[in-house]
Amino acid sequence: MQNFEYCVPTRIVFGKGQIARLAALLSDDAKILMTSGGSSIHKNGVYEQVMAALEGKKVTEFSGIEPNPKYETCMKAVEIVRNEGIDFLLSVGGGSTLDGTKFIAAAAKYEGDDPWDILAKGAEVREMLPIGCVMTLPATGSEMNGWSVVSRISTTEKLSFWSQHSFPQFSILDPEVTKSLPPRQVSNGIVDTFVHVVEQYITYPVNTPVQDRQAEGVLLTLVEEGPKVFAHPDDYDVRANLFWAATTALNGWLAQGVVQDWAIHGIGHEITAFTGTDHAKTLALVLPALWKHQRKEKQEKLLQYARRVWNIQGDDANAVIDEAIAKTVAFFESVGISASRKAYGVTEEVCRQIESVFLNRGVRLGERGNLGGHEVYEILQLTAE
Ligand code: NZQ
Ligand code: ZN
Repeated sequence: MQNFEYCVPTRIVFGKGQIARLAALLSDDAKILMTSGGSSIHKNGVYEQVMAALEGKKVTEFSGIEPNPKYETCMKAVEIVRNEGIDFLLSVGGGSTLDGTKFIAAAAKYEGDDPWDILAKGAEVREMLPIGCVMTLPATGSEMNGWSVVSRISTTEKLSFWSQHSFPQFSILDPEVTKSLPPRQVSNGIVDTFVHVVEQYITYPVNTPVQDRQAEGVLLTLVEEGPKVFAHPDDYDVRANLFWAATTALNGWLAQGVVQDWAIHGIGHEITAFTGTDHAKTLALVLPALWKHQRKEKQEKLLQYARRVWNIQGDDANAVIDEAIAKTVAFFESVGISASRKAYGVTEEVCRQIESVFLNRGVRLGERGNLGGHEVYEILQLTAE
């Protein structure tokens, strides 16, 4: 096991009716900017619950943070924060709203010329405004981590930053509010969660049985609970299990002491930047191709995954790995995501553009740092047509 240091300062408030806890979690003196996305919170009763809990507090509203939050939109909120002396941000919505809010919190306190440098140049984040969150979509784990992913329209970029200051002070997770999610977002959430786990698990072994079995536990939970949510969309327990799976998949528990990959996400973010494809769909497209390309490098963990998650036995390593990949693709399809390059607009031109991005950045992806622009292009060629 590798060395690690782990600190998650987020209070999780989980369960039915817990949005009302906002009243006690927020100070009466705070000048709050409540951020939200499009119209979902106005249609499912979340807005009314939040407003009832915020009665008597000083609240300004900022809505319109879009899926794959845009730098340009976030900077409008930064202006409000500065003009109105806002000192607390409350994100109400999905991962995009929270990621945008994290960037707003960092940008408002940034002392350099352009806050985009936080994402583009890894500029140091010394301070951020405090954040609270009502998460309405199980997928990203952003409610209990320090990551934020933001896109910039003018440069066709989708980039991320991590900061210890970026963890929400609290996150309220009420599984009831996820019942209004359209099936497309439920599917996206299950696949995103699944891929978060494997990015921290399908690498190479460094003797971490606790983390491995926790990862396998989340994967098996998704395989069991995922299909149920479509058959029984009003089942509270299924919604609760999927929510907690999403949070625990990316709150750091699975990452400590292990070797991590994140190449599937690295390539997926570029596909979204060039084509606008939903985040989870890009992951479903890239995962099988990347595992085929890296089958030797990842062999030990792929075999462990095949055996423990899919109960595949056999002596022919290649055949076992092929079957595990096929079962994974079939699982994605069973929860509503069939991945196809053509359907997502990943043309030959886009593949070449993504190759150039990685060649120009000089970034090498994967747990062994062995995936540069040319290898990324080869992986894109292996994706399902
Ligand atoms: O915008 P509104 O109207 O709120 O509607 C949203 C949006 O259209 C809707 N929605 C959210 N909660 C709902 C709901 N509709 C009905 N009922 C509810 N309860 O769902 C749509 C998608 O929302 P979005 O926030 O974009 O989805 P998600 O939470 O999947 O976030 C995706 C973003 O997170 C990034 C992705 O790259 C993408 O930009 N990621 C962030 C990570 C992190 N911070 O740790 C890690 C991930 O790997 C990922 O990269
Ligand atoms: Zn993801």
